[in-house]
Amino acid sequence: MKNQFESVPLKNLDEWEDDLLRRYPDPENIATSKSTEEYRNYDEPQRDTVREFYRLNHTYQTYDFVMQKEAEFLSFNKKEMPVWSAFDFLNQLIDDSDPDTDLDQFQHLLQTSEAIRRDGHPDWMVMVGLLHDMGKVLCLFGEPQWAVVGDTFPVGCAYADKIVYPEFFANNPDFSNPKYNTRYGVYTPNCGLRNVHMSWGHDEYVYNMVKDRLPESGLYMLRYHSFYSQHRENAYDHLMDDHDREMFKWVKLFNTYDLYSKNPTPPNWAELKPYYEDIVAKYLPPTLKF
Ligand SMILES: [Fe+2]
Ligand SMILES: [Fe+2]
Repeated sequence: MKNQFESVPLKNLDEWEDDLLRRYPDPENIATSKSTEEYRNYDEPQRDTVREFYRLNHTYQTYDFVMQKEAEFLSFNKKEMPVWSAFDFLNQLIDDSDPDTDLDQFQHLLQTSEAIRRDGHPDWMVMVGLLHDMGKVLCLFGEPQWAVVGDTFPVGCAYADKIVYPEFFANNPDFSNPKYNTRYGVYTPNCGLRNVHMSWGHDEYVYNMVKDRLPESGLYMLRYHSFYSQHRENAYDHLMDDHDREMFKWVKLFNTYDLYSKNPTPPNWAELKPYYEDIVAKYLPPTLKF
């Protein structure tokens, strides 16, 4: 039986993203109240909660677990909400225990989408920025943090040692299962990521939510934005096909906006609202199914 602590090792969901900035600092692009020095400080206590978070994630994200979560959530029969209510729903994730938490989920989405828009990218990519973390509502359906956020990786084949905290995979039953612990496991060389099951979390969920609505490059951004062991470390080239390689240029492009657009100053929503109402109406149905 998993205890309460196991479902919430992190004080708030942003802790794993702050940790990403420590792992992948980009002094050129960091636009936050925190200095680069602070991001590089590996001794802060926050890292222990992130470590514990990955211990749980790597222990429990098995091939069977992913199959079970796909069956449970990809039928989208939990809830239906108008799009803008869905953003309000997501914002219930605001953390009470940490008064310093700078911005709510919606502000992060808006800062990401605004950074994309400022650089003149197409409106569907702005839309990706606005939506990419919508899948975090899984936490509000009672899912533990380790099944919602964190780096994602393929299941059903050997876990790459380039994944953060690889030592914790030793606790995962698939690690010693010959069906799943070889280089290709249940897959074949360069079979293409469309045939690969990723660890379960907010990326796969939001991708499936809107998969008929956005260009394929945008869908790749949604589906693989937390797949750091590939888009930063190239640890799974052996499962990718040429099409994936082409599409990952977009995933990498998106990642810079996701990681480095955080800023303590909230965007002026009143001013931005008409633009976003237009693109949401253009790309999304009036209600979203969860
Ligand atoms: Fe995300
Ligand atoms: Fe994000």
